[in-house]
Amino acid sequence: MKALITGITGFAGSHLAGYLLSRGDVEVCGTYRVRSSMELLEPITKQIHLVECELRDPHSVHRMLEEIRPNLIFHLAAQSFVPTSWNSPAETMVNNLVGQIHLLEAVRKLDLSCRIHIACSSEEYGLVFPHETPIKEDNPLRPLNPYAVSKIAQDFLGYQYYQSYGMPIIRTRTFNHTGPGRGEHFVTSNFAKQIAQIELGLQPPKIFVGNLQAKRDFTDVRDIVQAYWLAATHGEPGEVYNLSSGSTYTIEEVLRILLSLTNVQVTVEVDPDRLRPSDVDTLLGDSSAFRSKTGWAPQIPFAKTMEDLLDYWRIL
Ligand code: GDD
Repeated sequence: MKALITGITGFAGSHLAGYLLSRGDVEVCGTYRVRSSMELLEPITKQIHLVECELRDPHSVHRMLEEIRPNLIFHLAAQSFVPTSWNSPAETMVNNLVGQIHLLEAVRKLDLSCRIHIACSSEEYGLVFPHETPIKEDNPLRPLNPYAVSKIAQDFLGYQYYQSYGMPIIRTRTFNHTGPGRGEHFVTSNFAKQIAQIELGLQPPKIFVGNLQAKRDFTDVRDIVQAYWLAATHGEPGEVYNLSSGSTYTIEEVLRILLSLTNVQVTVEVDPDRLRPSDVDTLLGDSSAFRSKTGWAPQIPFAKTMEDLLDYWRIL
């Protein structure tokens, strides 16, 4: 079995590569760009096959797929940070949607019979009313930022290619996920890094934060990548599945959990630059469809994820 991961150098991609290798029955290939950092892949670089590929260039994608001819594709490459999408909406759209068009078109033209997993997002639900939680897959999509719109486009493009060409595409709408290696701009990692810096005396004992009232449904990335494997291998082609823990924390609670893991005393200050033009208030997912289809359930408690994340920043 040969698997291709687009975005293998990223947070979820590198964890997925490690998980697939640990299975022992998967040959792992992945795409990178010239400017990609290889840091997260360092422990496993020698065990994976990396191919340079720019998803925004159709020739590059075609050439890469012609060489690799995978049995499975995990399409994770994306501009995934919501605030960047406010500053660069067109860039986010091109990166996320056009890259996927090139991928699906190349698979189609090469007549590859591979199953394809597309990583979509709970951000697609956007504005959710209290009576709609926990959110099911058939909830209306009311996006609140350009990133969410780009993910809806990816999601529906996957649906359309399944309907039009019968391509075995499985989509997941993943709720928030975190763990060691999470990029420093995302909230859990950002707070953990600030605490680690304060412990080392590299930052005054003041934590900068944005909107602490938002509620998010967090799962450990190590549980999420197992779900990606199950989605790709056991998911129903044409279907979309929520991946979530089924409970929420306010961002303020996340901060309190992280602060309970350190001895430093800090003050908390809202940084206006961290506030968004509109922020999704509550994301609480119902992942029962995926659980009953595949038997998946998250294993790692959130407190353990936070401990591991803080340790990750302490060691760096
Ligand atoms: N980044 C950040 N930094 N967010 C903060 C901060 C801060 O200092 N303070 C509060 N927040 C709030 C944000 O306003 C948001 O409500 C929440 O913390 C989570 O922010 P992020 O970690 O940036 O993630 P996200 O929820 O916007 O998006 C993540 O989850 C999606 C799935 O729901 C990303 O991983 C997306 O790629 C993913 O699709």
